[in-house]
Amino acid sequence: MKIEPFKLERYFDNYEFTTQYLLSSSDCDGYSLEYVLNCATSAEKKLWNDVRLGYTEARGSLLLRQTIAQQYKTITENDILVLSPGEANFILMNVVLEAGDHVVCMTPAYQSLYQVAKSIGCNISFWKPENEHWHYNPDDLENLIKPETKLIIINFPHNPTGSFLTKAATERLVAIARKHNVLLFSDEMYSQMAHDPANEIPSFCDLYENAITLWGMAKSFGLAGLRLGWVATKNQTLLEKMLGYKDYLTICNSAMSELVSVIALNHKEKFIEPNLKKIRKNIKLFSDFHAAHQDFFDFPVPLAGSTAFIKLKIKESGLVYCERMVKETGIMLLPAEMFEFGNQHARIGFGRGNMPDVLERWGNYIKKSPGHKLS
Ligand SMILES: Cc1ncc(COP(=O)(O)O)c(C=O)c1O
Repeated sequence: MKIEPFKLERYFDNYEFTTQYLLSSSDCDGYSLEYVLNCATSAEKKLWNDVRLGYTEARGSLLLRQTIAQQYKTITENDILVLSPGEANFILMNVVLEAGDHVVCMTPAYQSLYQVAKSIGCNISFWKPENEHWHYNPDDLENLIKPETKLIIINFPHNPTGSFLTKAATERLVAIARKHNVLLFSDEMYSQMAHDPANEIPSFCDLYENAITLWGMAKSFGLAGLRLGWVATKNQTLLEKMLGYKDYLTICNSAMSELVSVIALNHKEKFIEPNLKKIRKNIKLFSDFHAAHQDFFDFPVPLAGSTAFIKLKIKESGLVYCERMVKETGIMLLPAEMFEFGNQHARIGFGRGNMPDVLERWGNYIKKSPGHKLS
């Protein structure tokens, strides 16, 4: 299968490890191995010391799947397949879809969520936000469904907008998928990251028998380097097909990553809570920054996850502005072009500790640079 370049990943590849100030990352600062092991109980430390670096169980170790299952209400270790998140998405689409199938996917979206389906030859309809406060209306999604719709793809908490579902909207989406008998792929990579814990919603795999959900260690846990995630579903036929496809990709997971994941999941409050604290603090800092630069950009405050999608009120395109800024200041912003969503927005990431420093630099650049040509 031929596939288009993954624009966001190519853009990050240009700057992520060479520029000084990342203002668009969706992951939080990565925790150190020392931090993880300091969280571990003595029994977990023993497991770590004894870890064998041979092949591992293809579907993920029993211990890890049992630990993951505790995150859900109705899911057991048999309903889980452990793999890398991008691999999960790639395998799912290849197992489920054929050329000519119809797929509904949110936009803007992390490109792989629709690009794999597009490369298979599917027809995609995009579920657009109702407004620039990034509200997604389930009725709009239902209007996109056709008799040949095979798959609905959603992502809440949403990258890049920080949009989230209410409990009522969650139930409505399940009702829509069930009524039309469509498989629902829910990318929940930013799960348990509601900024107000009272707004948390259940995972779709606990609500709908034909939902398949994705979560992993990269975002909520600040452990992106483990390259580990999982899918959870009650659709056993689908899970077995995905396992068979995985044999042609990674076959099995890294033993070390699996064990670090077990430890982090068992002590998740020590991983997710500090990340959420940092995100809330950075959103406050960014709101103050916005108050001083309202003529320059709009800032719809995100409800969940680690990112927001701001609207740049400038004449030049987001890509031109971001390229100029990264070259002149070392600050990397991710323009909307990388989400194939016009050219006026940019993603902000709230998971990094150096936000005050970066905002000071950006503020100075806004003041000094004559090239901004406000529209
Ligand atoms: C919505 C979404 N899904 C999947 C992924 C992939 O996660 P990972 O980096 O752990 O492969 C990302 C990463 O940015 C994402 O934002």
